[in-house]
Amino acid sequence: MDTVTTNAAVRERVQRWRAGGARIAFVPTMGNLHSGHISLIEAARRGAARFVASIFVNPMQFGPNEDFAHYPRTASKDAEMLSAAGCDLMFMPDAREIYPDGLERATRVEVPELSRILCGQFRPGHFEGVTTVVAKLFNIVAPDVAVFGEKDYQQLTIIRRMVADMCYPIEIVAAPTVREADGLAMSSRNQYLTAAERRIAPRLYGALQGAVRRLAALDRDFAAIERAGRLELEAAGMQSEYFAIRAARTLGVPQEPAEELVVLAAARLGKARLIDNLKVR
Ligand code: PAJ
Repeated sequence: MDTVTTNAAVRERVQRWRAGGARIAFVPTMGNLHSGHISLIEAARRGAARFVASIFVNPMQFGPNEDFAHYPRTASKDAEMLSAAGCDLMFMPDAREIYPDGLERATRVEVPELSRILCGQFRPGHFEGVTTVVAKLFNIVAPDVAVFGEKDYQQLTIIRRMVADMCYPIEIVAAPTVREADGLAMSSRNQYLTAAERRIAPRLYGALQGAVRRLAALDRDFAAIERAGRLELEAAGMQSEYFAIRAARTLGVPQEPAEELVVLAAARLGKARLIDNLKVR
């Protein structure tokens, strides 16, 4: 695996592969890789000849009081993991490469509405930072396929929308959430939990499972199920931000009885902000 840090070097490499007829897959990440990220890489490798991963802790998607400065940066371990997973190229730009003129004056890409609901309500500007950097990375790497985790279900939905609206010729593949043995969704931010908080954290998944069980049993009192979910998180010692039943495709409030549903939740636990979701199958 090669590591490059400039846009020009990525382009040169990808153009060469494409000229040879290879299909290019791409997984954007912020590093501090775990098995969840590696599962994306494995999904990407299916059906693609060459595989590119990026590692960039994107300052634009962090709020002023968020954890940008403390976000774990583990470049050499990440490189080892990517290489072992069969990655061909690791792109690790610095902030000047991505935002040469700083953040303030940079062009931004925004998916309105979808970016303001759920997590967007609690993290103003976050999804605008995500779509801006992903749009830039898509233009730099120009992949045929890009893989995103269902763990960040709202992010995945917003990226799909951006790709459709901006006519990117890129297939978006969703990879299922990878969990710890006790059900907690893997996340770089789980490291912020103390040992006691870590024991509580899987109850977020438990609350989602409870809601899914009721929905699967055709309980249609969404407000009551959402309220029960929030109470369960609070009873476990978390501060619930939202617990919401939404249409899986649009994240809108469900309208049609036959719509596929997803239950999404976010809660604060100590220094960590945990998010998770489950589809009703
Ligand atoms: P990051 O949090 O590093 O996640 C990179 C990708 O890994 C995302 O698509 C995310 O959904 C996926 N992922 C994380 N944990 C996962 C898990 N437990 N199971 C399955 N997939 C998981 O998401 C971002 O970075 C950034 O917002 C980014 C898209 C790179 C833009 O900066």
